[in-house]
Amino acid sequence: MRDAEIVGTLDAEGAFPHPWVREAMLAVPRAAFAPDTVWRADPATGRYTAVDRHADPDAWDEVVLRPEPVVTQVDDGTADTVGDVASSSLSDYRAVASFLTELDVHPGQRVLEIGTGPGWTAALLAWRLGDENVVSVEIDPALAAGARATHARLSLAPTVITGDGTLGAPDHAPFDRVHATAAFTHQVPYAWIEQARADAVIVAPWSPGCGAGALLRLVAGDDGTASGKFVRSVAFMELRGQRDDGGEGFEAAREAEPATGEAAVEWVLESLYADGNFTHAVALHLPDVRLETLGGGAVWRLWDGGRSWALVDDRPGIGKAVQGGPRRLWDEVDAALRWQDEHRVHGYDFGITVDPNRQWAWAEHPERRWEM
Ligand SMILES: C[S@@+](CC[C@H](N)C(=O)[O-])C[C@H]1O[C@@H](n2cnc3c(N)ncnc32)[C@H](O)[C@@H]1O
Repeated sequence: MRDAEIVGTLDAEGAFPHPWVREAMLAVPRAAFAPDTVWRADPATGRYTAVDRHADPDAWDEVVLRPEPVVTQVDDGTADTVGDVASSSLSDYRAVASFLTELDVHPGQRVLEIGTGPGWTAALLAWRLGDENVVSVEIDPALAAGARATHARLSLAPTVITGDGTLGAPDHAPFDRVHATAAFTHQVPYAWIEQARADAVIVAPWSPGCGAGALLRLVAGDDGTASGKFVRSVAFMELRGQRDDGGEGFEAAREAEPATGEAAVEWVLESLYADGNFTHAVALHLPDVRLETLGGGAVWRLWDGGRSWALVDDRPGIGKAVQGGPRRLWDEVDAALRWQDEHRVHGYDFGITVDPNRQWAWAEHPERRWEM
């Protein structure tokens, strides 16, 4: 499939309420941002294998010319031919179209993007707003250099800064729009709010683990705060430094802190996981607790980043929770599940408010809030 065909299909689905996004995607096609080496997931091993454009052009086309995301770097650039963690990607067309729709940009506005990656989103924004109005921050120097080179080839020149995007781009602030294309896991980095003008829109994916990823859309006030709701589900790679550790910390805590007692589980964990709203509620009530699910959602591993852990195994015939360490993590999660069972709040009806010192989550209305 060529870029234009993919964009045409999306158009027929109604993916472009803002027509400029469709025009930009046709003028600045995604394939132009795919590096010579892209990475293909192997479902059998869960690992990524390099696909080289020159060695195997057909395979490269197959990976790149389709609507899904394209992994463009694994293991932070250290992998040679096989790797484990996708560390940069060209986002998929639908996600970009919906993010840019939520961002709602208009000529004359200045935008900060966090997570340049191959530089496609920055290029789309520069096409719309002009190079001088787009600043994008990428943590990986090689990726930032690659994006700058691709932009130059396409006669575009948004400012691409190498640095930690959680700090924003203070030398270029203030911004009318802030757009993260890497997910935060707990707290919205306050620099994004601090560098936003009053009424600015901040669009960022949230990825707390446990399959509860969603897109957050905040609007900045004139008093250093920002507030808004989750607008749709998304799965996005986390900001570097906020990634899941694959259960290592959980295992270390479990070895160090013996289990104290055993409790019966009164939930069908697999259904709670499938529902999505329960894990969303848990992640907002207990933002410092890592919840990882295994076995299709029937096994939950909880870890507080320190010495406390819980293992909840609800596979047929088991149905028990064990926990260790100073905090009773399963009891805390159980309480959050009971809260959600009583209030039945939909994922989209949760919101977040950020001020210079604190962050709150809320249900349905900013007044019904608790500190995160
Ligand atoms: C999903 S990719 C972004 C896709 C991209 N914007 C596009 O145009 O398709 C996420 C990028 O965020 C970058 N990243 C991760 N943590 C970051 C941080 N703290 N600051 C800046 N960039 C970061 C990664 O290196 C990666 O390139």
